[in-house]
This record gives sequence, structure tokens and C-alpha cells, in this order.
Amino acid sequence: MDTPFSTLIRTASHAQHTEAETSTFMSDLLGGALGVDAYARYTEQLWFVYRALEDAAERLADDPVAGPFIRPELLRVPELERDLAHLRGADWRETVSALPATRVYADRVAHCAASWPGGYVAHHYTRYLGDLSGGQIIRDKAERTWGFARKGDGVRFYVFEGVGNPAAFKRSYRELLDGIGVDELEKQRVVAECKRAFALNTDVFRALGEEFRPAA
Ligand code: HEM
Repeated sequence: MDTPFSTLIRTASHAQHTEAETSTFMSDLLGGALGVDAYARYTEQLWFVYRALEDAAERLADDPVAGPFIRPELLRVPELERDLAHLRGADWRETVSALPATRVYADRVAHCAASWPGGYVAHHYTRYLGDLSGGQIIRDKAERTWGFARKGDGVRFYVFEGVGNPAAFKRSYRELLDGIGVDELEKQRVVAECKRAFALNTDVFRALGEEFRPAA
């Protein structure tokens, strides 16, 4: 009952985090077994998901539950677009496509954004806190594996220029979670949505894993 909400949500998603982190696609990608094309395809999928998250941001800014989480320094769509222009070329918009699993994920985010602020927070947490944490490991590996400039085009998605101190930012984010203005039952629903968010990510990794296999 007294467990801080930030601890609850983190603990509840711990096993799925390990599953996502150790998924075949992520392991192959970060283990250097896949080409830059796989990384670009993954970045495309992120673009669809972040558009769903961020298209709603302005409208939710005044929402009592989701509003406090909306911070301009988190916005990733402009960075993803710069990365995609680098990875796919200037006409990238004509070639990107969402995998079916990505479509399902982005639709779920859009649905929460439109009708359930608590659910939106679950998706917000799952993505942005992850990007601020493990995302930094992914950036480092991507720079080394495919030769992107440090914090430059190709990996800008992982660079939060407006977040001076990620550890402090994460602490204040957890304080926001702990103070979320919903009752216990709604907190349980938010935790369940967070688990769903992780599962949606894992589904995307599975689909990417089917598309990209390490050379034998
Ligand atoms: C290879 C992939 C990944 C690596 C290496 C990784 C690594 C990490 C690390 C090191 C942390 C910091 C834990 C701490 O603060 O003590 C973290 C936190 C987190 N990661 Fe990941 N992660 C990966 C994938 C993912 C994915 C796919 C998601 C979900 C989309 C995710 C979501 C999160 C979240 C939400 C947190 C914050 C936990 C909290 O403090 O509440 N991660 N990750």
C-alpha cells in the first residue's frame, strides 16, 4: 500500500524489461550481428510510436494526470526525423512503413492519448524513462558498430540536449509518478498498461527479428 508508485511500476515491469533487453533482435543488433539497415528499420518503427505519443502532447499538457509529464525537452520526433534523413536519405518519408506490430503499438498509444490519460502516462514512462536509461547504452553501441558521429546524425534520438542531468531528471520524473493524482485502482490499471506497453515493444522486436537475421 505504501510502496511508492515509481517503485511499483518499475518492479512490475522488471521481468518484461529483461525480456525486451535480451530479445533476439536487440541482442543481435547490439551485438554487432546486424547491418545498419536493421538499425534504420528499428528507427523507422520508433518514429511511428513517437508520433502517436507526441501528436497528443500539446493537447494533454493541461490534463491534471498526464499534463505534468509533458516536457518539451523530451520530444523525440524532430530528432527521429533527422536520424531518418541521415539513415534513409532526404526522401525517407516516401519509403518508411510501420510493421503490423508497430501499427498495433502506435494505435494503442493513440487510443490512450485520446481517451485515458493514465494509460498515456504508462506509455510515456515506458518509452522516455527507458530512452534516458538504456537508450544511452544503445547509442554508444550504435556509434561504435555503424560509425555514427558521437551524439550526431543517426543517434540523435538518444541525445536529450535539453536534459542537463539525466539522473536528476529521472529522480524528478519518479517524484511525478509518486504524486500521480489517481486512486489505487487506477494505479493498478496504469501498471497493467505499462506491462502492455512492454509487451507491445517486445512484439515489435519479434517482428524485426523475423525480418533481420544475422548472416550465417
Ligand atoms: C538493449 C536494450 C535495453 C537496455 C540495455 C536497457 C537498459 C536499461 C538500464 C541500464 C536502465 C537503468 C536501470 C536503473 O536506473 O537502474 C533501464 C531502465 C529502463 N528501461 Fe531499459 N533497456 C533496454 C531496453 C528497454 C526497452 C525496450 C524498454 C521499453 C520500451 C525499456 C524501458 C526502460 C524503463 C521504463 C526504464 C526505467 C526503469 C525505472 O527506473 O523506473 N528498456 N534500462
